[in-house]
Amino acid sequence: MRQPLVAGNWKMNGSAESIKLLLDGIKKSLDTVSKAEVVVCPPYVYISEVQAQLAGTTVSLGSQNVNEHGAGAYTGEISTSMLLDFQCRYAIVGHSERRSIYGEDDAQVAAKFAAARAAGIKPILCVGEVLEEREQGVTEDVVARQLDAVIALEGVDALADGVIAYEPVWAIGTGKTASPEQAQDVHAFIRNRIARQSAAAAEKVQILYGGSVKGANAPELFSMPDIDGGLIGGASLDADEFISICQAAV
Ligand code: 13P
Repeated sequence: MRQPLVAGNWKMNGSAESIKLLLDGIKKSLDTVSKAEVVVCPPYVYISEVQAQLAGTTVSLGSQNVNEHGAGAYTGEISTSMLLDFQCRYAIVGHSERRSIYGEDDAQVAAKFAAARAAGIKPILCVGEVLEEREQGVTEDVVARQLDAVIALEGVDALADGVIAYEPVWAIGTGKTASPEQAQDVHAFIRNRIARQSAAAAEKVQILYGGSVKGANAPELFSMPDIDGGLIGGASLDADEFISICQAAV
């Protein structure tokens, strides 16, 4: 059985003050979350502070990005070993905002996946189509291409050391959630594509859904057989809303 996972991607939001309040709220209700592993991914500058505030809790720490190189002249970047200094267990790689705003391509995302994995950090590989691609009926082609870049570099079994997040770009921050059936279709496609090469990896890898998940729609989404939890943006900035999403993971 795959353990459900709910990760909050705070993106570029928050302040020292608001993050303390958010974590206090999450910690207060954490004992009501029975099944899900809970992860928060703060902006880099707050990672140290968040680590301290999460000490002694079951919440894991993740980063929103990671550099694929070990060290050196990469101004503004953060390496895997730096993340390990703060017990970061997860790193989001290939978020659609990184791909579309900062020009990360499939090869670079695969390299980031590899770097995180080599360091013992679980990469959360984001895949997903833009609206135009869904309308053209090429969702599966896009997701397959993004997935295959990692498989080509690392081999299919490597996926079992990470997590996949299906985030249809048209559903991110728009309030338009994929229907549970639409999401399940793509999740099943991803799992079947992996299963063709490795049944064990397909069985093990957690596939999260992301895109306008809220407390109200999480139960239906998470009840789908191939949806193993969520990657949550906006709703992860509200402790009560985030906790209710975590409670919905079964
Ligand atoms: P929203 O939940 O705000 O739609 O964001 C989803 C997302 O991009 C998580 O990585």
